[in-house]
Amino acid sequence: MTGHAKSHKVAIIGAGSVGATTAYALLLSGLVAEIVLIDIDENRAIGEATDMAHAAHFTQTRIRAGTYADCDNAAAVIITAGVNQKPGQSRLDLVKTNYAVFESMVPQIAAAAPDTILIVATNPVDVLTHAAHKLSGFPVQRVIGSGTAMDTTRFRHELGKAYSVNPRNVHAIIIGEHGDSQIPVWSLATIGSMRLKDYCSQAGKPFDKEHTDGVSKRTREAAYELIKRKGKTNYGVASVLVSILDPIINNADAIVTVSRVGNYEGVEDVALSMPCKLNRDGAHQDVPLLLDADEREAVRKSALSIKEVIESCKS
Ligand SMILES: NC(=O)c1ccc[n+]([C@@H]2O[C@H](COP(=O)([O-])OP(=O)(O)OC[C@H]3O[C@@H](n4cnc5c(N)ncnc54)[C@H](O)[C@@H]3O)[C@@H](O)[C@H]2O)c1
Repeated sequence: MTGHAKSHKVAIIGAGSVGATTAYALLLSGLVAEIVLIDIDENRAIGEATDMAHAAHFTQTRIRAGTYADCDNAAAVIITAGVNQKPGQSRLDLVKTNYAVFESMVPQIAAAAPDTILIVATNPVDVLTHAAHKLSGFPVQRVIGSGTAMDTTRFRHELGKAYSVNPRNVHAIIIGEHGDSQIPVWSLATIGSMRLKDYCSQAGKPFDKEHTDGVSKRTREAAYELIKRKGKTNYGVASVLVSILDPIINNADAIVTVSRVGNYEGVEDVALSMPCKLNRDGAHQDVPLLLDADEREAVRKSALSIKEVIESCKS
């Protein structure tokens, strides 16, 4: 932890499951000096912040409830406010309600913190990253969706389980939509610095369509499974949000797969996830991925399906 990092304030909008768990993960990480928790349900924000302030006794970080005005000078504002999926609902089903929440919320954040970086977690995250960019007027690099950073973590977890290796030694990413049209990039996956295909043939492990389809499906459907079992997902996303914030606070130039507005495979002005370099100025897409033809086509389809929902928000 650097002295520089310890001077920062971060605001979290939404003190529900995702917001409160993120605040707690951030509190224990010691990454920032101050956390402000903001919710339309003021009592909930005060309750969560006070409970966590008792835990803050054991950390160097202060936490309190606040209002949008308290976003001033925040290094980043993490947006988790909005409704969650019910069993059987897709992320795109949430769009009307959560778009309206963003219309009321984002201009207030932008007015209080014109230089901040927005990190969007509310679903559908790609559509709302695009909305937050338009509603804030911020440059694209300062509006980041958590995107497929979550799916990438799940993908590595599933690959680690399937091939009995530590997920830290799996380099493999999910790109595109944080949702049903996401794309596992099999062509670039490696384990222990070996191409996955070569690793499997050397190690005598299966690498056929049945196996890869199984891993892709379990990754894509992980959130549906969890929502069926516990009604929500919170721990994974909270850790992912802190891992996105960390290189921003520490100006670390880390490469993370996050959502950002841009032009993708000929589809203009849409948000989806690609590997981005994260530092104190935000998310930068410096180096385009070398995808195979099928993966590029899948990105185009993913971009078109997100774009369709973005267009529907305008009506
Ligand atoms: N990106 C990801 O990987 C990921 C993972 C899990 C959940 N999510 C999404 O995060 C969002 C929140 O999920 P949750 O489980 O925390 O829901 P939740 O219902 O527990 O909490 C949502 C909170 O938002 C608050 N809120 C609603 N409207 C508001 C407004 N206008 N201003 C301020 N606060 C407002 C509510 O009062 C509530 O406390 C959902 O959209 C969910 O789909 C994203």
